Amino acid sequence: MDTSLNIDWGNLPFGYHKTDYNVRCYYRNGSWGELEITSSETINIHMAATALHYGQEAFEGLKAYRGKDGKVRLFRWEENAKRMARSADGIMMEKVPEHIFKEAIFKAVKLNAKYIPPYGTGATLYLRPLLFGSGPQVGVKPANEYMFMVFVTPVGPYFKEGFNPVPIEVVRDYDRAAPRGTGSIKVGGNYAASMLPAHRAHMDGYASVLFLDALEKKYIDEAGPANFFGIKDGKYITPQSDSILPSITNMSLEQIAENIGLKVERRPVPIEELATFEEAGACGTAAIISPISKIYDRLNNVTYEYGEIAGPYSTKLYITLRAIQEAEIEDKHGWTTVIEGI
Ligand code: PLP
Ligand code: COI
Repeated sequence: MDTSLNIDWGNLPFGYHKTDYNVRCYYRNGSWGELEITSSETINIHMAATALHYGQEAFEGLKAYRGKDGKVRLFRWEENAKRMARSADGIMMEKVPEHIFKEAIFKAVKLNAKYIPPYGTGATLYLRPLLFGSGPQVGVKPANEYMFMVFVTPVGPYFKEGFNPVPIEVVRDYDRAAPRGTGSIKVGGNYAASMLPAHRAHMDGYASVLFLDALEKKYIDEAGPANFFGIKDGKYITPQSDSILPSITNMSLEQIAENIGLKVERRPVPIEELATFEEAGACGTAAIISPISKIYDRLNNVTYEYGEIAGPYSTKLYITLRAIQEAEIEDKHGWTTVIEGI
């Protein structure tokens, strides 16, 4: 660890913190070029780039964890590579080959190794791969040129409450994504659509929003930056929906839930079912698990309460997931990859 950095690791917010290098790769004339390393925090982009006008842009989020044994690991990075490829297909961008994705994320972590938070601080190094149409178009069509880049930033928990339960607010008057739209891929437009209701929720004193299915407003979709799960009667229940992001954290929690004796149900979850859950939570790379204290359905003026203390299953799931990521227990499923040489 580099003590000259003067970072208060235990109190890091989830935000941008300058590091030393980022990694870039360009698709031009029909092929991907060599990876480039730079210290510049800015990019030079054509004013008619499709990313700027038509939202031809996708991103990923994953973390590097400093383990109990001092080694640094990535968690299921192959899933992020696959999801970015699906995002690219979904909005007609050029896909980043997996070997380039891998080389870029490993390089970005290694080059910024001094920013990897120490084990036991609760902080991690967040990796943000980004792919966008950089070539000019004025008509609505895909770019001929793309830029892929990866930057990293040391982060604390997404919700400042960390593992303390947060209140969230149901949104009925805005939709994040349409049923056959882009909700299941990680493109910027989905997040743009979530900002207004999320801002309102913050103004109302809530940490996040809970979106419902856009078509019928009957079923739970997901929280702003995370998937949703509920627990009752020995079951881990999480929404099945075409308009939510397939969360790698949620996929992992489903497996851990089974391992700890919960039955897993992935199915449509009617909003009224919120009244029957013993525990509820939001999960994702940034959020990890954020237990939910209460859910307020603002238009119907109904509140569902789960308590100010995290429930036993959410706690067990959280501890187990973190223990795998930080190599405190055996990684039986082979989810982590050690980055050698740091
Ligand atoms: N849902 C949304 C809308 C997200 O932005 C994220 C974060 O990536 C997630 C869910 C969680 O996905 P993951 O666990 O793969 O980070
Ligand atoms: C993540 O969990 O990695 C996310 O991308 C969520 C959010 C910061 C958009």
